[in-house]
Amino acid sequence: MKQQQENPFQFGVVIDDSAFCNRKEEISYLKSQINNGYSTWLFSPRRFGKTSLIEKVFREVRNTKCIYVDLYNIRSKDDFCRNYAKIVADELFNWKDDIKKITKKLADSFTNLSPAVSFNEFGNPSFSMNVNKIDQQADVETILEIPNKISQKVNKRICIAFDEFQEINRIDPFLLNWMRSSFQRHKHISYIFLGSKQSMMEDIFASTRYPFYEFAVKMNLSVIGHDELFSFIKEKFTLHRLPIQHHTIHTILENQIVSRITHNSLLLLYSILSSADMIRKLLILRIPGSTK
Ligand SMILES: Nc1ncnc2c1ncn2[C@@H]1O[C@H](COP(=O)(O)OP(=O)(O)OP(=O)(O)O)[C@@H](O)[C@H]1O
Ligand SMILES: [Mg+2]
Repeated sequence: MKQQQENPFQFGVVIDDSAFCNRKEEISYLKSQINNGYSTWLFSPRRFGKTSLIEKVFREVRNTKCIYVDLYNIRSKDDFCRNYAKIVADELFNWKDDIKKITKKLADSFTNLSPAVSFNEFGNPSFSMNVNKIDQQADVETILEIPNKISQKVNKRICIAFDEFQEINRIDPFLLNWMRSSFQRHKHISYIFLGSKQSMMEDIFASTRYPFYEFAVKMNLSVIGHDELFSFIKEKFTLHRLPIQHHTIHTILENQIVSRITHNSLLLLYSILSSADMIRKLLILRIPGSTK
């Protein structure tokens, strides 16, 4: 029996390479921003493809350590510091070092924050800081400085993406001040700030009242172009052995609701393909002697 082919369209998730459509210009622009150490703020309305794009760029960029931080579920300044420190430590420290070496490295970087490393039953390291609450400016700055220290030490470029960056206003707006004074000295780090709330993002990066004023270059992400989506759809249907006429693709892409949001196009295509698959199966079941 032939293996059931997976639906090649993905929606509602951050998509992988197999389902990723185009965005060649955006990928190339972001790569050059990263390679030049420039920072970017990336805006689009919800479900246009920001997170998928950044993850794609991170899979492709070479000679740079890429770190992704999602602010969506962060509750407080303390929570931010612990999460950020853990992500940074996991990404930037070599956990294969022997315990003495790694403990020393952590102690040097996380001064005053009592860093500790323990190993679970499978031998995987887990990192924590034995302090009650991280709230003081000096402690927050210690954590924000770690990527810079490491990039200088190992002479390697780093890129850090903060997704849902507008959440910083809910977490603690003063974090912006501390981040700005720290980040502006990080010559070998390119920061990318992603957000979907236009007025908040504009305020943070384009208002003289905010510390991040003109800190990063703006990048607007629009919907994927008609021609790119056309070729993508054609290719996927062909691979799936489902004939589709050109005018059908144009009709789908010109639909008002679908064309305005990337997610909607993909959801519709996913549904069309699933329905077509179901019909195909039903037809096959009705043909006596069918072996498929
Ligand atoms: N380049 C792409 N190729 C194919 N599908 C895409 C692409 N970009 C986005 N999509 C579709 O849009 C959906 C939303 O993408 P993603 O989660 O990356 O958007 P987002 O802008 O980060 O959304 P949010 O603002 O809600 O976080 C994906 O699940 C996928 O169906
Ligand atoms: Mg997202």
